[in-house]
Amino acid sequence: MTINNSFFSSRRSVTAKKMIPNPINPEDLEIILAAGIRVPDHGALNPWKLVVIQGSRLKELDEEIVLTEFKKDNQNASQREIEIESTRLQRGGVVIAVLSKPIYHPKIPEWEMQLSSGAVCMNLLNCAQSMGYAAQWLTEWYAYNDIMLKRLGGNINQDKIAGFIYIGTKNEEPTERRRPDPNNVITYL
Ligand SMILES: Cc1cc2nc3c(=O)[nH]c(=O)nc-3n(C[C@H](O)[C@H](O)[C@H](O)COP(=O)(O)O)c2cc1C
Repeated sequence: MTINNSFFSSRRSVTAKKMIPNPINPEDLEIILAAGIRVPDHGALNPWKLVVIQGSRLKELDEEIVLTEFKKDNQNASQREIEIESTRLQRGGVVIAVLSKPIYHPKIPEWEMQLSSGAVCMNLLNCAQSMGYAAQWLTEWYAYNDIMLKRLGGNINQDKIAGFIYIGTKNEEPTERRRPDPNNVITYL
């Protein structure tokens, strides 16, 4: 059997900072979202939700939540910091927020539901990158902000933001980053 693993052996993220925030072709977005929810999920509980943020919503959320919440906690912020927080989400053409929403189950541990949310993030990332888009999985500080969690439909003290998947277009191909030495992280019993 011939296996083409060139995508997986060369896949790289492009930082949100470096991507071009062009809107994503709606058909491509559908493909990416479909890949995102096609993940292993013990008990088929679907313990996650995806929230697509694009167009004018990016700016709205930056102003309503990211900047407002940042200012609350950083009253002496510099002009440069304010500029960065004013356009955080607008670095992407689309940003997909992945919420981990575990439910009580007598046999399936919450940990497994959280792992499934990570799989959603990784599938979104892999799919977008395989289609040639620039993409990055970020949490940054606002993934841990309760107002943001609530605005995205999460329940405080129960749900978590697994990540924001930023997708845009590439300005240039990313260079390779340091990868783990397989001998340090893989053993064969
Ligand atoms: C859950 C999670 C959260 C992350 N959050 C951040 C972050 O807040 N800031 C950051 O610079 N990188 C963050 N990263 C790492 C970026 O995704 C980074 O671009 C990635 O490690 C590049 O690896 P790749 O080229 O193998 O995709 C995060 C990664 C994961 C898995």
